[in-house]
Amino acid sequence: MKTAVCPGSFDPITKGHIDIITRAAKLFDQVIILISVNYDKKYSFTSEERCDMVRASVSHLPNVTVDHFDGLLADYVREKKACAIVKGLRAVSDFEYEFQMALANKKLYDGAETVFLTTQGENMYLSSSLVKQIASFGGDISHFVPPQALEAIEKRLRRYTPGIKE
Ligand code: PNS
Repeated sequence: MKTAVCPGSFDPITKGHIDIITRAAKLFDQVIILISVNYDKKYSFTSEERCDMVRASVSHLPNVTVDHFDGLLADYVREKKACAIVKGLRAVSDFEYEFQMALANKKLYDGAETVFLTTQGENMYLSSSLVKQIASFGGDISHFVPPQALEAIEKRLRRYTPGIKE
């Protein structure tokens, strides 16, 4: 049984994440989406809220589960006996940071490999930060996020109602 962990902030989940998760689910017997913490980031959603949105968005994938963990990713991967950490790579700008994390995780736990899946061209520009910015202005984010998470994201992030005042 080959298990992969797909970690991230998922603040919030996007269709880019769904693409990577769907493809990972075809490569491994089991995929655990891990809602993790990066203390350098200020989150808009609690880990429970992020878990709920991700869970609702991947319920159609039978070999995918969702979990959260506030500790080191390497410790979680060891505990679950996973053989891979799956990350999506969008552009060259992602690479340096992801490469650094992959090397550090390998040093912390040698039993798993980081596997990078390149994002589809249509999702190259997509990020959670972009979604948050558009949603805060009341823009249409339905192209960017899974339908199951749309309402929760719009409700939390909208700060401005579109419409030109005369
Ligand atoms: O979606 P993100 O914010 O790019 O994901 C980064 C994340 C949360 C996966 C990364 O910060 C992480 O692995 N956090 C858990 C703590 C940890 O292990 N940090 C050291 C990584 S080398």
